Formats: sequence, structure tokens, C-alpha cells
Amino acid sequence: MKALILSGGKGTRLRPLTYTGAKQLVPVANKPILWYGIEAIAAAGITEIGIIISPETGEEVKAKTGNGDRFGVQITYILQEQPKGLAHAVKIAQPFLGDSPFVMYLGDNLIQGDLRLFLEYFQKQDLDALTLLCPVANPSAFGVAEIDGEGRVLQLLEKPPVPPSNLALVGIYFFNHAIHSAISAIQPSARGELEITDAIQFLINQPKKVAARQLEGWWLDTGKKDDLLEANRIILDTCLDSTVLGEVDSSSQVIGRVEIGSRSQVINCTIRGPVIIGSDCHLENCFIGPYSSIANQVTLIDADLEHSVFLEGAKVVGIHQRIVDSLIGQRAQLKVAPQRPKAMRFLIGDDSQIELV
Ligand code: DAU
Repeated sequence: MKALILSGGKGTRLRPLTYTGAKQLVPVANKPILWYGIEAIAAAGITEIGIIISPETGEEVKAKTGNGDRFGVQITYILQEQPKGLAHAVKIAQPFLGDSPFVMYLGDNLIQGDLRLFLEYFQKQDLDALTLLCPVANPSAFGVAEIDGEGRVLQLLEKPPVPPSNLALVGIYFFNHAIHSAISAIQPSARGELEITDAIQFLINQPKKVAARQLEGWWLDTGKKDDLLEANRIILDTCLDSTVLGEVDSSSQVIGRVEIGSRSQVINCTIRGPVIIGSDCHLENCFIGPYSSIANQVTLIDADLEHSVFLEGAKVVGIHQRIVDSLIGQRAQLKVAPQRPKAMRFLIGDDSQIELV
């Protein structure tokens, strides 16, 4: 069994962050989203992983993730020149995959629970394809499955305006070699992509053995800001230790589960967990509320925040209104003068959003 993780694409929905970096490297609880997928695959006992990368962000993904040693796996990077669709990614990965069965994992998806159960089901039932489904409120934003009374997949549709059910396709699929001939037989869709849903539909029509299993726990597609904040909330709620390596002075209060990285300084702050703070941060006169993730080298002085994610090197000074539901990019700076400010001065990247609510 091998694994193929898709970490290419353009990441348009997380702009402006994805102008400068891969969306799969945006951190959730200070760890790149992509790494959760690699860890889940490694935990299922799969050690040969191919990762699809794009020319724009591939080098960054490679530099950060490495050859797999840190996860106990072997990683092969596969360059996809253009994001021509999920099935196109499988097509170009064929030399890596050979005839091996594989799990395909979309690099921006996070799920709760164990891949092993699904892997066992796929192998025991001797399936050609296994898809995972999850009921959602907005099925039109996903691939959608129509299933019969026995749970067999009748039809798969990619982002249908009128969805036949509320069952979205989760970005984790199990395939055997039959998927390759299905991909050779399909044509690009109206949006110009080779769709994996069309390839699976081809298998259903043949008919090959295609099954679907519903996810029990949560599933998040972290493609947009609010999804990312939700992923951050859930991971901080479920997977956080209380390790304090940095320095917390005696006038600070740390309540609940809070992780603080090495060489970080916390001066006269109240931190109410769950909160994760990276290394080499400087926090002074702040309230840091629940569900906040603060990456390495962040400076927060005279600031008040909760339910927000700050990326590496961000700096906030003098903002006493509470910052909520926010995602602040790498090295971004927000400063308010100590006296009542008379003007506002901005240098804001394309697609940035500022809301004073
Ligand atoms: O998240 C689940 C959904 O993922 C499914 O319900 C849909 O059926 C499926 O098509 C997919 O939809 P998205 O619109 O979320 O796909 P996105 O373009 O965001 O790509 C998913 C991942 O695959 C992302 O990490 C980027 C990567 N990718 C995407 C394309 C199109 C590639 O590596 N190469 C590509 O050509």
C-alpha cells in the first residue's frame, strides 16, 4: 500500500496568505496542515508516500517537510506543472504508484480518527475504490454522493448546484490499479480539470466495486479562513499538552492548557487556554484568550485577542479592542499609537480584509 498526498494547486481561497506560501503549510495549532495527513498515513502503517507539489510552492513544501525521516516514512516529491485536477495528479504519479493500491489524501483536509479502519475495510472487501462521506450543510461546495438504501454509491457529482444529497466527498480515497484506466478514459470537465469524481463514476458504471463509508468524527477542509479557525479550535481542544518552556513572569497568569515554546517571554499577561505559543515570542501586557495559536517569533504588546491564528513573525502593538476570529499572516504588523490615533496608515496586500466591527 502506498499513499499519494496532493499538495499542489493554487490555494486561491486562502489568499492573500497563499500568494507567498503553500496553503497546505498554513499551520493549525502551530503545525502545517499537511503534516497531520502525513502522520495519519504513517500511523496506518503506510511508509511510501508521494507528495504532489506545484512549481510555485513545491520548494517550500520540500524544505519544510523533508524526506520523511521525521515521520518514519519515505517521501517522493512529484511535480505537477499545472493544477489540472485531482485525477491529473494521479495520472502523473503513476510511475511512483505502479500497480500498488494507494490512499489518496488531499493535503488541505483534516479528519478525526483512524485511517486504519477504512484501510482494513478497503482491503477486506477487495474494493476497487472506497470513498469517505460526511454530511454537510453546504454540499454544493464539495463533491456530492448519491447512495442507495444499502449504502452503495450510485452517482458522484462535483460541486453540483442542486445536490442530490447532503453527503460530501471527504478528500481521502482508497484505490487499486483500476483507477488508472478509468482516468485514461475520462475527459477534462467544464472547468478544464480531470476530475477524480468522473474517474470514480467511470468505475461505478463499469461496474467495479466502489463503496462509501461515512465518517464518524469531524472533518475539515481547511481551504478558507473560517474552516481554518475551526480546525484550529478543534485541534487545540483535543491535542494540546501543557508544556511551558519559555519564561512567564510573576505578574502573569496562565490558566488552563497552555503550551509555550522555548525562549518565549511572557510579561504581565493573562493567558486563558487552550492556547499554543511558539518559540522566541515576546508577549507583554496582553490578554490571550482561548483558541489562539501564536507561531514562532511573534511580538504582541498591549494587545487583547482570542480565537485567532498569528503566523510567524507577526507583530501587534497597542490594540485594546479584542482581536477575534482573525488570521494574521507572516510578518504582518498591526500598530496603534498610544495617544488617540488621528489617522490610519495601511500597507495591505492584495485580497486582505480589515473589518472594524
Ligand atoms: O475537500 C474535499 C473536496 O476536495 C471534495 O469534496 C471534492 O470532491 C474535491 O474535488 C476537492 O475539492 P476542492 O475544491 O476542495 O479541491 P482543491 O482544488 O482545493 O484541491 C484539493 C487539494 O488538492 C489541495 O491540497 C490542492 C491539491 N491539488 C488540487 C488540484 C486541482 C493538486 O495538488 N493538484 C491539482 O491539480
